[in-house]
Amino acid sequence: MKFFLDSASLDEIKAAKDMGLLDGVTTNPTLMSKEKADWHKVAEAICREVEGPVSLEVVGTTAEQMLAEAKELVKYGPNVVVKIPMLLEGLKAVRSLREQGIDVNVTLVFQPLQALMAAKAGATYVSPFVGRVDAIGGDGMAMVEEILAIFRNYDLRTQVLVASVRNPLHVVRAALMGADVVTVPFAVLKDFVKHPLTDSGLESFLKDWEKVPKA
Ligand code: E4P
Repeated sequence: MKFFLDSASLDEIKAAKDMGLLDGVTTNPTLMSKEKADWHKVAEAICREVEGPVSLEVVGTTAEQMLAEAKELVKYGPNVVVKIPMLLEGLKAVRSLREQGIDVNVTLVFQPLQALMAAKAGATYVSPFVGRVDAIGGDGMAMVEEILAIFRNYDLRTQVLVASVRNPLHVVRAALMGADVVTVPFAVLKDFVKHPLTDSGLESFLKDWEKVPKA
């Protein structure tokens, strides 16, 4: 499973790279707004820093607008993945971009048929938003399980990129299901290595080591 960082923060991206957990990056307009900087410069810096795929999202809502934006976005580097919202107009843009050989990540997916439509349009990635589904009382990871089953039934090559991740359990369940990618906020990524019993176990080892007679 690939680990993407869900962030537009260069500091977080560099930290994740140092942790060896940076297979790619996903951004969106909200994450870009948090950087309070010229997003063109932010996008350029991210694409330079990250070796793997970098998702940059369009804000147009017609295929024509999306294609015009995509033409500019891909100039930031060969690792740019154009992020397209799940709309009928978006699916038109997906088909056109894939014909041009441009990778596409279909985002804002909340039910399996949307994912199937994205795959039929040839999307490189589809991003089901699990945290937001959970937040309204649904089971986001159950949605992912259905999407994976549908994709396996028809040998669809679109990669399932689990998004809107809120906790390590989302990541564990994604891995158990065989999702291709998870995109994770830095705050959650840091928790991957944590467990209270590890901390207490190490503390008692070190404390007991103090009792070992030393020459
Ligand atoms: C993917 O990049 C999505 O835009 C992102 O995971 C959404 O997460 P959120 O639900 O925390 O906004």
